[in-house]
Parts: sequence; C-alpha cells; structure tokens
Amino acid sequence: MISYTQLFASVCALASAAAALTPLEVKGKDFVDSKTQDRFQIIGVDYQPGGSAGFTTKLDPLSDADICLRDAALMQRLGINTIRVYNLEPSLNHDECASIFNAAGIYMILDVSNPLAGGYLDRSAPWTTYSAIYYKQVFGVIEGFKNYDNVLGFFAGNEVINEEAHYLVPKYVRAIVRDMKDYIAKNSKRAIPVGYSAADIRDILMDTAHYFECDLKNSTSSRADFFGLNSYSWCGDSSYKTSGFDVLTEDFTNATIPVFFSEYGCNEVQPRVFTEVQALYGEEMTQAFSGGLVYEWTQEKNDYGLVKVDDSNTVTTLVDYDNFQKQLNKLDMDRIMSSNATQTSVKPEVCSTSLIKRKSFYNAWDLPEVPSKVADYIKNGLPDAPSGKFVSVSSTTIPQKVYDHTGKEITDVKFEVKSGANTPSSSSGSGSSGTSSSSSSSGTSTSSNAASPNGAPSLALGGAGGFFMLLASLL
Ligand SMILES: *[C@@H]1O[C@H](CO)[C@@H](O)[C@H](O)[C@H]1NC(C)=O
Ligand SMILES: *[C@@H]1O[C@H](CO)[C@@H](O)[C@H](O)[C@H]1NC(C)=O
Ligand SMILES: *[C@@H]1O[C@H](CO)[C@@H](O)[C@H](O)[C@H]1NC(C)=O
Repeated sequence: MISYTQLFASVCALASAAAALTPLEVKGKDFVDSKTQDRFQIIGVDYQPGGSAGFTTKLDPLSDADICLRDAALMQRLGINTIRVYNLEPSLNHDECASIFNAAGIYMILDVSNPLAGGYLDRSAPWTTYSAIYYKQVFGVIEGFKNYDNVLGFFAGNEVINEEAHYLVPKYVRAIVRDMKDYIAKNSKRAIPVGYSAADIRDILMDTAHYFECDLKNSTSSRADFFGLNSYSWCGDSSYKTSGFDVLTEDFTNATIPVFFSEYGCNEVQPRVFTEVQALYGEEMTQAFSGGLVYEWTQEKNDYGLVKVDDSNTVTTLVDYDNFQKQLNKLDMDRIMSSNATQTSVKPEVCSTSLIKRKSFYNAWDLPEVPSKVADYIKNGLPDAPSGKFVSVSSTTIPQKVYDHTGKEITDVKFEVKSGANTPSSSSGSGSSGTSSSSSSSGTSTSSNAASPNGAPSLALGGAGGFFMLLASLL
C-alpha cells in the first residue's frame, strides 16, 4: 500500500504543477498563452515598494514573502494579472515571492539592471559599462528567474535612450537584447521574451521603436520581442484625442511586436480616475497595444501609489486603488482575450536606414562585438549564479491589517490560488475553468467586497486551483 507520505508528495507535485501559470509567448504583435493560444493583454502595476531608493543588495521587492503575500492578495482583489519589478539582486532567494505571484495568477516582467555600481549601462559612455561586470548582473537575473513559468519577459533597459544619451547608445542596448536572448537560448529551457522600455519622448519614440523591432539578417537574436512605453499623457478625465492616445495608436498600428504601456497613470489631476483604462483596452487601441502597467503599487514621495504601507502591520488602499478597480471591473475580458489571426501573423520589417527619421538618432546596426568573457558566460552559463525554483505556498492568510481610504477595516482580504491568469472580479474568464462566459457589465462592486471570480466561493474544491488551495492550507 502506498504510504501517506508518498501519496502526499505525489499529490503535492501534481497540485503545484496544476497551479502554475502557463508561460506566455510572443506571436506576431500579440502575447498569447502558449497552451490555449488565447491573447494575453497586460493588466498590470509597477511594483517597487520603497521606491527605487528602497532597493539594496539585502532586500529587493521579491525577497520578502510576507510582503509579497500581502500585496499579491490585494492585487488579486484589484484585478491585475502582471507586475513589473525594476531592481533585483540576483544573489537573493526569490522562490517564495515568485511562487506566490504565480499561484495568484500574476505574471512578472523584470528589469535586469539595478542602480548600483556595475548594475547598469552608462548612457553617457555606454562602451565603458558594456562589460563582463555588468553582465554578472544581467545574466544573474536571468539565472535567478529563468525557471519560473510566470516570468513574462525581461527588460534589457529602461529609458536608457533619452535626450542626454550618447549617440551610440541604441546599438549598445540592441546588443544587450542580443546577448540576453543568446544567453537564454543556450541556458534556459524556455525562450523567455526580451524587450525594451522607452521614455515617451515623442521626437524619438518611433525611431526607437523601429530601431529595436526591425529584423537584422546577420543578427536575428538582436531583435526585441516586445516594446514598452512609459506614457503619462492622459491626465484626469481626458479623452482619446486630447491625451494624444490617438496619435500613439496610429504610430503603433503597424508595429510588428507587442507594444504596451510599461508605465502609465498621470497624477497631475488628483485623485486619479483612470478613465484611460477604457481607451487602452477599447476597440480603437487594442489592435496597437497589449495593455499596460499603472505606475505604481505603493505610495512613495512622488505620489503615484495605489496603496499606502503605514507600517509592517498595516496597509491602506487609497482612492486611486478603488478608482482603478472600478475601471477594471468594466472591462470585457472575452474581447480582450480573443485571438486574431491578422495580429498574430504580422511579419517583421527589415532594418534599413530609411526607418530612422531623425538625423540625431543613430541609424546603423553595426552592433558591438560581445566581450570574450561575456561570450564565455553565454556559452557555459554564468558561474556560481543561483537559479530559482517554485516552492509550495505554505501560508495563504494575510496577517497584516488592511484599511480602505475612509479608515474602515477591510476584513475579507484573502489570497486565492488560481490556475489561470488573475482577472478583474466582475469579469469572466478567471478561475480554474479556463472557459469564459459572457462578462457581466453590472458588477462594479468595490468597497470591502473581495468578490470572488465567477461568483464561486473560494472554498470550491472542484478545480485544480481549489485543490491546491486546500493543500496549501494544510502545508
Ligand atoms: C501602416 O501601414 C499601412 C499599409 O502598409 C500604410 O498605408 C500606413 O501609412 C502605415 N501607417 C504608419 C503610421 O506608418
Ligand atoms: C483583427 O485585427 C485587425 C488588425 O490587426 C483588425 O483590423 C480587425 O478588426 C481585428 N478583427 C477582429 C475580429 O477584432
Ligand atoms: C550586420 O548588418 C548591419 C546592417 O547591414 C551592418 O551594419 C553590420 O556591420 C553587420 N555586422 C556584421 C558583423 O557583419
């Protein structure tokens, strides 16, 4: 007879496998679920608790499981499916946080640089930092995260190209894309997408996009897999035209890779009402954009937060959290997830100087050669770099107290293990069923009601998610 331990171990293996998110892949200009081929649009939040100054080599946003569990539960309730994390320290253990976000149905887009010495490309003299020292950080992040199925992609750079950047910076960043993709091809089981995140400097925006998305015959791996844009042009209750979103849509209508807002959410008008959500995921923009990430999760000095961390035991959801949630609850997830063969079959354009319009923008693709030590890392793997792996999520209770912006305690915040991507609570397509019925437009319930998706109580044990949750609570 099979022992209890054996049974338990095999059931656990099954359960954690069943609860893992399906990796996403790039097809034409869309992200798609690698299993169902459904379209995936990013409904996300930028995640950097403590701000960029909060990052140290001892603590990064994915190294403290208690904080990740708290935030993942509040993000599930909000309705998002993706976070972006800017600064990571490869030597820290990220297993618990990655597993928590995975179980929550939340993907991760990760920047590979950090602000410490040796952790970034110097935009004023890129050749000085394009070196093996920098690649310990870059490949270290890839090693640390390559085994997590919920890594959507890596950013090879964030706003590196701007008005102050040296003329040659584009070719160095494109070389970083190449080196990262070559490293992943050689050292990772999965082809994790690599992209670039651009500042919204309209003068050079399209040159930047074309520079990264075009196909280079003698270096196919240097083509970016996706393009992020940090855009703050919609302020308050603006409109598609006033905000210039119509121009962005027109500009990116012929993009050949997925494009999304890697940051959005202007805060010049407060509180933020997030009416741009309906435009971004609406009929007009959906063909050009794959969603976006609101800047940012926690309230910091620059005043962009959705939640405020009062102390280690208390969190307050701000008005912006409720307003964003109301907008998300109106989305038609069936339409957002529907695949479209026109979108997935677009072909890349070939790199040519005619793609670059401005004289001041670098217009050649003579990429720098890989430094020999870096070539060695690509060939043999970065030595002594820890690789993460999923672990069981051992606790699903949130010990912290949560208050809403009126000061009322929210008592029903709970972490739910999902078997698919998280979705806004009033929409369809979430939970373990994978099938989506038509979404109700009536549900805009917010306040203290963490309405469970599909109206199913969180104790439903039918699906794999529920099954895993039961185990998770036993472990
Ligand atoms: C997009 O492509 C179409 C068809 O080739 C072309 O007519 C149009 O001008 C292009 N739009 C932009 C903004 O490049
Ligand atoms: C599919 O995408 C194309 C553009 O990429 C768009 O013109 C068309 O309307 C879309 N079809 C559907 C059914 O949404
Ligand atoms: C690859 O092609 C580009 C564009 O044609 C060219 O500038 C570059 O020098 C070529 N690189 C090599 C190594 O041949």
